[in-house]
Amino acid sequence: MTTPQHKIGSGFGANSTAADVLTGIDLAGRLAVVTGGYSGIGIEATRALAAAGAHVVVPARRPAVATEALAGIDNVEVDELDLGDLASVRAFADRFLASGRKIDIVINNAAIMACPETRVGPGWEAQFATNHLGHYALVNRLWPAISAAGGGRVVAVSSTGHLRSAIRWDDVQFEHGYDKWDAYGQAKTANILFAVRLDALGRDADVRAFAIHPGGILTPLQRHLAKEEMVAAGWIDENGNAASPVFKTPEAGSATEVWAATSPQLDGLGGVYCEDCDIAGLNPADGVTRVGVRDYAIDPEQAARLWTLSAELTGVDAFATSTR
Ligand SMILES: NC(=O)c1ccc[n+]([C@@H]2O[C@H](COP(=O)([O-])OP(=O)(O)OC[C@H]3O[C@@H](n4cnc5c(N)ncnc54)[C@H](OP(=O)(O)O)[C@@H]3O)[C@@H](O)[C@H]2O)c1
Repeated sequence: MTTPQHKIGSGFGANSTAADVLTGIDLAGRLAVVTGGYSGIGIEATRALAAAGAHVVVPARRPAVATEALAGIDNVEVDELDLGDLASVRAFADRFLASGRKIDIVINNAAIMACPETRVGPGWEAQFATNHLGHYALVNRLWPAISAAGGGRVVAVSSTGHLRSAIRWDDVQFEHGYDKWDAYGQAKTANILFAVRLDALGRDADVRAFAIHPGGILTPLQRHLAKEEMVAAGWIDENGNAASPVFKTPEAGSATEVWAATSPQLDGLGGVYCEDCDIAGLNPADGVTRVGVRDYAIDPEQAARLWTLSAELTGVDAFATSTR
């Protein structure tokens, strides 16, 4: 049954941390893959999952940087992965599958945001390719290990950025004019639609998928933004300090993805967008409200259409024989 897109009253909130949501949860013997799990909110998710007993695999575009950042955290393994390069995704997945291990949790956490127009692979827009297509290919290639675990969860890290743009079916790759925020918005909508479709397809294998918005957190994600742009947005002051009271700490920013990946409160549920450690409501599409999910991002038909397009572009679909 489709999970309703409204709050369940988890008891956690915007200031809950990843450690808070894992209180009393033992992840010993579980394996988690956290893309980008060595920076920003990702490293806090890695830290918390490992502290709860999980073995955490951190696929990294810059393995040496990841290894240094994660030094001192036990139960962590770094491997190489560039989500903007499908050969790299395939090589990582092949290495992992060859290890014979199962995967209980995947957190598609890595992303780039608002970069100048960049093309990767066969000319794909980099934010759509990295944030969505790379993760799409990764999960599909790792599917034998994910489905083998039983009770697995996949979390797609999205953003309120999705409010900015639906999938631009007539120009997905921005061949007719580029806007860095529309491109981020489309990619973050794609993350939600991916979770909606994966949840429908993976349910029979007892794998559920969720999309989440972590909150606003000052991290290296803002690397492509000029200081003036962040000052004008009210995010930082002239000295580079956080100026907005809505910013979360990285520990709180990682809480929703960790909650979605592990909470028994979500057992039997899936295919929904979460924020502040709870299932979110619908966004009213008034152009002002910055919470909740837009209808176009959880539409099952658009989710299926995006899955088909992603399969065509990447050449991989773990559910190709499915009739749904
Ligand atoms: N921070 C916020 O306010 C905010 C708000 C809403 C949503 N989010 C979402 O939260 C997630 C984490 O963001 P963050 O703020 O923690 O950002 P971050 O600190 O910049 O971390 C992003 C990670 O993604 C990795 N990455 C980027 N391109 C990659 C590629 N081609 N292949 C593999 N890995 C790649 C980065 O690796 P390198 O460091 O090696 O480049 C980094 O480890 C993202 O999905 C973001 O969209 C963040």
